[in-house]
Amino acid sequence: MLFVLFVCLVVIPEALFLTPKSYEVTLLSLTWAENSWPYDFKNIRLIGREHLVNGTFTILEDLNDENCVFSTEIYHDPARDGNFKLMPFSMPAMGVCTFFNDYGYYFTDSIKKENTDLFINKTDCVFPKGTHFLKNIAISTDNWPPILARGNIRHVASIFKNGVLSGTYNITSSIDDRVLKF
Ligand SMILES: *[C@@H]1O[C@H](CO)[C@@H](O)[C@H](O)[C@H]1NC(C)=O
Ligand SMILES: *[C@@H]1O[C@H](CO)[C@@H](O)[C@H](O)[C@H]1NC(C)=O
Ligand SMILES: *[C@@H]1O[C@H](CO)[C@@H](O)[C@H](O)[C@H]1NC(C)=O
Repeated sequence: MLFVLFVCLVVIPEALFLTPKSYEVTLLSLTWAENSWPYDFKNIRLIGREHLVNGTFTILEDLNDENCVFSTEIYHDPARDGNFKLMPFSMPAMGVCTFFNDYGYYFTDSIKKENTDLFINKTDCVFPKGTHFLKNIAISTDNWPPILARGNIRHVASIFKNGVLSGTYNITSSIDDRVLKF
């Protein structure tokens, strides 16, 4: 479910596209409403200067498109002063497996076999119940479209279990110009 962790970063609406310029994404925080289903991220940390995603997380129940659908709203804080404004677009509701199949390639650069023991079968998708590790994951945006407004971005994912709102997860990240490293 790493994927839902980042789910939203992916959904970068066309309307945010500005001049093509290279950028990088740094995670700032991952928060959730109390008793959120279906992920338990309390043992995930953002470590080091690069805020690598590290630790273990638990999927509380086997997930597929039938029982787990999420929608995402996007907020932008261009001044980075905590004043997040809801952007006038959102990601349509979709099942976890549909998301994985349609957007998973955005993460293939970031998440490799050595970074997690979570395996999702594309032809027979289930996010399996259980605890998995994530090891030192940085977000690689190499496959991503040339975006976007700089500043802090917050994706708020609302997760529906059999149609009932059962969890809310906020992923806040910073979008910066890429610093060339020599
Ligand atoms: C998620 O973000 C929204 C919008 O900024 C905020 O109103 C809400 O309190 C946040 N919830 C959590 C659990 O961080
Ligand atoms: C990273 O997570 C693993 C568990 O997946 C843990 O054993 C390790 O101590 C963590 N590293 C840091 C620096 O927190
Ligand atoms: C993925 O699921 C299909 C259909 O159930 C199965 O035939 C295949 O062996 C699975 N692949 C892996 C790598 O588990």
